Amino acid sequence: MCGIVGYVGGQQAAPLLTEGLARLEHRGYDSAGIAVVGSAVRVVKRAGRVQELVGAMPKRIAGRTGIGHTRWATHGPASDVNAHPHTDATGTVAVVHNGILDNAGALRRRLEDAGVELASDTDTEVIAHLVARSEADTLEAKVVEALAVIEGTYGLAVVHADFPDRVVVARNGSPLLVGVGEKEMFVASDLAALVRHTTTVAHLDDGELATITASGFTTFRADLTRTDTSAHRVDVDPSAYEHGATGTEPRMHTEMLEQPASVERTLRGRLDERFGTAHLGGLGMDPRELRAVQRVKILGCGSAYYAGQMGAQLIEELARVPADAEAASEFRYRDAVIDPDTLYVAVSQSGETVDTLLAVEEIRRKGGRVVGLVNVVGSAIARACDGGIYLHAGPETAVASTKAVTTMFVGFALLALQLGRVRDLSVADGKRLVAGLGRLPEQIEDVLAGEDRLADIGKTLARAESMFFVGRVRGYPVAREGAQKLKEISYRHAEAYQMSELKHGPLALISPDVPTVAIVPDDELTDRNIGALHEIAARGGPLVVVTHPGVDLGDLVAERIDVPRNEKELDPLLLTIPLQLVAYHAALTLGHDVDRPRNLAKSVTVE
Ligand code: AGP
Repeated sequence: MCGIVGYVGGQQAAPLLTEGLARLEHRGYDSAGIAVVGSAVRVVKRAGRVQELVGAMPKRIAGRTGIGHTRWATHGPASDVNAHPHTDATGTVAVVHNGILDNAGALRRRLEDAGVELASDTDTEVIAHLVARSEADTLEAKVVEALAVIEGTYGLAVVHADFPDRVVVARNGSPLLVGVGEKEMFVASDLAALVRHTTTVAHLDDGELATITASGFTTFRADLTRTDTSAHRVDVDPSAYEHGATGTEPRMHTEMLEQPASVERTLRGRLDERFGTAHLGGLGMDPRELRAVQRVKILGCGSAYYAGQMGAQLIEELARVPADAEAASEFRYRDAVIDPDTLYVAVSQSGETVDTLLAVEEIRRKGGRVVGLVNVVGSAIARACDGGIYLHAGPETAVASTKAVTTMFVGFALLALQLGRVRDLSVADGKRLVAGLGRLPEQIEDVLAGEDRLADIGKTLARAESMFFVGRVRGYPVAREGAQKLKEISYRHAEAYQMSELKHGPLALISPDVPTVAIVPDDELTDRNIGALHEIAARGGPLVVVTHPGVDLGDLVAERIDVPRNEKELDPLLLTIPLQLVAYHAALTLGHDVDRPRNLAKSVTVE
């Protein structure tokens, strides 16, 4: 949440900073600002989007060192004054900050008692005052002194009028990367802001600080001793990041359409047709270790958690190993019992969701083994795990996750296959699933080709203030994910329920004004599911059913959406995709900014 950029080098900093912020806007978009160090520190900041900041920029704002920020509000509403950077009273120091300071209230009071007038409602402003009040000789030592009294999480960047050749950054719980250029250096909270300039980066660790100057960077700890963090080239295609800053088509739409290719990438080189299994070298587990796994526990948040529920179902079916998924945001608070025979799986697109990261750290502290299903290479969660499977979905910047979710499903299918094949899953069944996985990209194309009709259904659903999404067993996480997509971008109330639980309460809400989207694949539960559809129809509830061709729904249904058949274990993936498109078109119909839904941001790095 929130995006940070920083620059030191031979070019004018301001345009580089605003361009970097535009590429980070998915991380927070309620206000934005920059500070540039020339003959003094100059700050420009505005509530609203980066575009509004660019519009407010004075013609000349000279300086070759600077920092910038795009904000997702935590302390105080989105306003010009609460936007970052924050400065001390004299405007000597400017700070941008991601994360939350836990003792900001106490620090604010202490500063006020000392006669400091605070301009904003934010926690961040105290850092600027603390740095400015330090009597240390170097900017590094001033920042360290300020950090010594701060409690909480941060990724922060500081500039100072007396040290115009440098930016000092510090990390504790919020990601920061240093980007190495030719006689210029960058810093950012996300690779997306760097790739246009460099793909040689250094990831800072928690507790680490860095100084960047035009000629290089140094890293150190709070006692000012040097660390040996070095830069390495990351294997990314910079063109894959281009759309976010320049395209006009909503990013979510592009990302949905990329799913055949992203799923293909997740599968690439990992399927073994001959032995009907998967190769997942990144797990770092040999067959004996895989066989020794007694349970699987999957942890993720939001859509990643729902993908985890799909994954747990796959693992139980294919490997016959007890498996379940839990919201990492709950797990980490309940002092969970960690079992050495359980394989813990952390699933995350960004690799920086703080609840998932803290769950991973807690498990490892207690001696558990955690592997990651993560999209962003080198991210905090990926680095905190014992091993893992990179998703290779490509950059995902729309807040509503689509291609990451479907690649998570594929990652779980590969894991389930490998766990199954070291147990009792037959070669024949393994080959059946390998073939099914191989068919997915083309079948996803088929689903996407039905967009026009899904758009009409989305328009119809947009009229309802409230609706249900229901499914059973494999279909239930699909229903949860469908409801999640609809609510986060259309702001309509969408409640996911197990099909079987409807009659235990929520059926009371069914009426002609409350549609139900039902997931009814052609499997061993179809008849049961059709029974539930009758119960809904009997109460006048309009039905949209996602199903397979040939399933006889009689005249129960207002709309049916057929997806291609694959192996039944793999059904959730193809059943999920139409719901993405329906949600997208519902949101467009209602005139919402689908890529930047209200109150949300792409990565949830605050607790
Ligand atoms: C998905 O549409 C949501 N924006 C959100 O639930 C997301 O999946 C969740 O915050 C987890 O993010 P992660 O995959 O980056 O960990």
